[in-house]
Amino acid sequence: MAPTDRRRMVLGISGGIAAYKACELIRLATKAGFEVRVIMTRAATEFITPLTLRTLSNNKVVTDMFEEPERFEIEHVSLAQWADVFVVAPATANVIGKMASGIADDMLTSTVLACKSPKVIAPAMNTAMWENPITQRNIETLRDFGFIVLRTDKGQLACGDIGYGRMIPPERILQHAIRAVRRSDRWSDLRCLVTAGPTREPLDPVRFIGNRSSGKMGYAMAVELWQRGAEVTLVSGPVCLDPPEGIEVVPVSTTREMLEACAARFSSVDVAVFSAAPGDFAPADPSDSKIKKRPDAGRLVVELEQNPDIAAALGEVKRKGQITVGFAAETERLVENASSKLAAKNLDMIVANDVTAEGAGFEVDTNIASIVYRSGQVEMLDRMAKSQLAAVIADRIESLL
Ligand code: PMT
Repeated sequence: MAPTDRRRMVLGISGGIAAYKACELIRLATKAGFEVRVIMTRAATEFITPLTLRTLSNNKVVTDMFEEPERFEIEHVSLAQWADVFVVAPATANVIGKMASGIADDMLTSTVLACKSPKVIAPAMNTAMWENPITQRNIETLRDFGFIVLRTDKGQLACGDIGYGRMIPPERILQHAIRAVRRSDRWSDLRCLVTAGPTREPLDPVRFIGNRSSGKMGYAMAVELWQRGAEVTLVSGPVCLDPPEGIEVVPVSTTREMLEACAARFSSVDVAVFSAAPGDFAPADPSDSKIKKRPDAGRLVVELEQNPDIAAALGEVKRKGQITVGFAAETERLVENASSKLAAKNLDMIVANDVTAEGAGFEVDTNIASIVYRSGQVEMLDRMAKSQLAAVIADRIESLL
C-alpha cells in the first residue's frame, strides 16, 4: 500500500497461543499504513494483555461487550462499519465454528456478523482440531460466504504435535489484508503471468552463463497484480527473494525452461508481463563433467547458440484481447531500441530502462523507465521504487482492459 493510503483494520484476537503473534501483525500493519483497532475475546486476554495491544495499536482495545463505550454508539456496529478490513488472527476452532454458524455471543463474533467489509481469517489450532471434518466444513462454509480463510502452516505446535494448524506468519497475513482492501472488480477475474529474474545457461555441471537480474522488478510486478485481485503465476529464474504470498511460483533455470513454463500457461492468461532477463545465448555443447583448467591453454573457446525468444514466440500465438507487456534493458538509444522490440514481439507496451543509469535496472530497489506504447506514444517516468513502477504499469494495463 502506498503510505498515503491510510486504511482501517479491525483485528480480532481469539484465545490461542498464537495470540502473541498479533503484536507483530499490529506493528507491521501500522507500518504499512493501517490504523488498527483490536477486539479480544475473553480467552485471548489470558494469553496477552490488552495493555500491550493498546500500546502497539495506539487505540483502545475492546474486550467486553458490556463495558462502557468510548462514545455513545453501539460499539460492535460502529467498529464493524469503521473497518475497511476485518482480520481475525489467531482464529481458534471455536471462533471459526461460531462465525460459520452466525453465533454472536461476544464482541468479536458480534462485530464480525455486523461487518460488511472483507474478512480475513487466520486459523490457529491443534492438528487434530484442524483436520476435524467439522472444522473443515466450517471453513468451507465461511469461504462460501466470501470470507478469506487462510491456510495453516505445518510444523511443531505448542502442544508438541507436528502437523498443520500453525498460524501463518504475520507478514503473510498482512499481505492478504492489503489485498482485501486493494482488490478491485476489474482485476478479480483476471489471470496474469509474470516472468522474473535471470536464467542460468549451463557450461558444465558447476558453471553457467547468467546475468545480474535480481528478480526485484518482476516480483514487484507480480505482487502488484495479485494485490489488485488477479490470480498470478510467477515464472521465476533463480533469485534470492522469498516467494510472494498468494502467488504460484514456477521455478525455472534456463531460458528454454522459462519458455516451456510460459507456453504451457499462456493461452489461459489475460495479461502477461515479461520482466525477466532470459539469456539470449546458451553454450551449444555444455560439458557433462567439470571443465578442467589446462595450464597450457590461455583461452577456452565456448560456442554459443541463440536461445528462443519467449516474448516473441508467445507474441505469435497471442489471441485477441490478451495484453502483453515487455521490458527492454538498454544501454543506448533507449526508446528506439524498445520500439523495435515492441513491434518484433507483438507487445502492447514496453517498459524501457537504461540499465547503465544509477538507480535503474538490475539489482537496485528503484528504476527509471519510459513506457513505449503501440501508438508510438512515450511516457517518461522519474526514478521511483520498483513497487511504485509496478503500480504505474498496472494502471496502464488497466486502461487497456
Ligand atoms: O531483476 P531486477 O534486478 O529487478 O532488474 C530488472 C530488469 C533490469 C531485469 C528489468 O527491469 C528488465 O529490463 N527486464 C528485461 C530484461 C531483458 O531481457 O531485456 P531485453 O531487452 O533483452 O528483452 C526484451 C524483452 O524480451 C523482455 O521483456 C524480456 O523478458 C524478453 N525476452 C528476452 C530474451 C528472450 N530470450 N526472451 C524474452 O522473452
